[in-house]
Amino acid sequence: MKVLAIKSSPRIKGNTNSIIDKIVQGAEESGHVIIPYNLNEMHVKGCQACRTCKEKGVDCIIKDDLKDYWDKLKTADVLIMGSPVCMYTFCGPLKTFIDRHYCTKDKNMKSRLEPGKKVIMVYSQANSDEDAYKDNFNVLDQYFKTHKMEVQTIVHCGHNHASENEELMQMAYELGKSL
Ligand SMILES: Cc1cc2nc3c(=O)[nH]c(=O)nc-3n(C[C@H](O)[C@H](O)[C@H](O)COP(=O)(O)O)c2cc1C
Repeated sequence: MKVLAIKSSPRIKGNTNSIIDKIVQGAEESGHVIIPYNLNEMHVKGCQACRTCKEKGVDCIIKDDLKDYWDKLKTADVLIMGSPVCMYTFCGPLKTFIDRHYCTKDKNMKSRLEPGKKVIMVYSQANSDEDAYKDNFNVLDQYFKTHKMEVQTIVHCGHNHASENEELMQMAYELGKSL
């Protein structure tokens, strides 16, 4: 299977990235192909609302670091996406990236993607209440569901580093392995 691993945290070895790395390790050991994206190192403009995607039924025409992404997305089986919680919700770079997915819907707002992709969302937050930002995470889930994607969510909470949480790391590894 083809797996896109999309990181958005500026902390290379931070919590969300550590969890994604473990899922990826498991997935690689199961023989899946991983295509990594590190949004913090990429030039990704916001959607310019030009509506060319709607008028012509094409992928986003902006020639930035997402220009090769759309073909990868179309043929991907699994998306792993991680974000630290910033100001009660997923972070700005991930929102900018998600906005660009406007082109994944046609002019009638029907999906241009094949249904059935799996999404693994990874969040990390300082708040120890796992449900504190559930409504905000749900915003992304709603979007994925319009593409008939199946969403699974992992939330890392509190001030301990994710990589020191053996149970969480094992769960992430096994999740990757089971893809
Ligand atoms: C700008 C900023 C805003 C944050 N806002 C929140 C917040 O609203 N709620 C929360 O629980 N944690 C908040 N945090 C803490 C991070 O979500 C937390 O440290 C997380 O583990 C960082 O993940 P990372 O290591 O993957 O970057 C914030 C951190 C930063 C830098």
